[in-house]
Amino acid sequence: MQNPPRWVSTNGDVERPNVARLFDYYLGGAHNFAVDREFAEQSMKHIPTAAMVQHTRAFLRRAVRLCVADGIRQFLDLGSGIPTAGNVHEVAQQADPTCRVVYVDNEPATVAHSRTMLRDNPGAAIADADIRDVDAVLATPEVRGLLDLSRPVAVLMVAILPYIADHDRPVELVARYRDAIVDGSYLVISHLTGDEQPEMVQKLVGVAAETLTPIVARSKTDVETMLGGFDLVEPGLVLATSWRGEDEPETGAEAVAYGAVGVKRPNG
Ligand SMILES: C[S@@+](CC[C@H](N)C(=O)[O-])C[C@H]1O[C@@H](n2cnc3c(N)ncnc32)[C@H](O)[C@@H]1O
Repeated sequence: MQNPPRWVSTNGDVERPNVARLFDYYLGGAHNFAVDREFAEQSMKHIPTAAMVQHTRAFLRRAVRLCVADGIRQFLDLGSGIPTAGNVHEVAQQADPTCRVVYVDNEPATVAHSRTMLRDNPGAAIADADIRDVDAVLATPEVRGLLDLSRPVAVLMVAILPYIADHDRPVELVARYRDAIVDGSYLVISHLTGDEQPEMVQKLVGVAAETLTPIVARSKTDVETMLGGFDLVEPGLVLATSWRGEDEPETGAEAVAYGAVGVKRPNG
């Protein structure tokens, strides 16, 4: 590629579609390449992927606004992707410019793009770490420099747990983050499910299986078990589009993910 834009990393993989850049494309961002756009357009012929991603992002925004309204001023966004169109730092810092946000991702091009995009923002940074290694995440210079874990924090796990295979024990992983944060901290979670639209979600899982980042859909009961130790704010664990959302057009895309926000209860 000649004269790449400033956000393109020197070690970025521009030959294969990349989930973070696909999300960027579905959200109307500009941090994607022809290979991503082609893959996205093909998948949208069979599955309303763009609508799915936009619903997830809308849930994320509503959840972040609730956290800020409830007094949270620091955010740890695990598996963040490229912080494109309406992401956590934009929403939180618009509500209160003192909010601090640490994004975490382990995909080198995503980290490099994000680092460039955030370099003029002293309250936001990206940590290069695998979220499955909780100690490594918490020891990153970005977490240590920007977050005070002796005070409440919001941990965001939005559209990331489907990337954690069963053998990586997602329930225990969430519990390890819960144990690292103080009472009154928040957990924001969304998770792909085939409970309502099994055929559509099966197709999506099939498409993802062809990429470097396969995904797992889980049932409501599975997701419930991830929320132990948290008191859920109203309306609890529901379809993410119904979580304090407006009426959504019925394309099926509105019924493929659960969402919930929990507050860590004392001794939770
Ligand atoms: C679906 S995308 C972005 C989700 C983002 N939270 C959102 O709501 O827009 C998932 C991201 O998680 C990252 N990811 C997947 N597994 C990861 C892991 N084990 N550690 C860190 N990041 C991971 C991928 O690189 C990708 O950028």
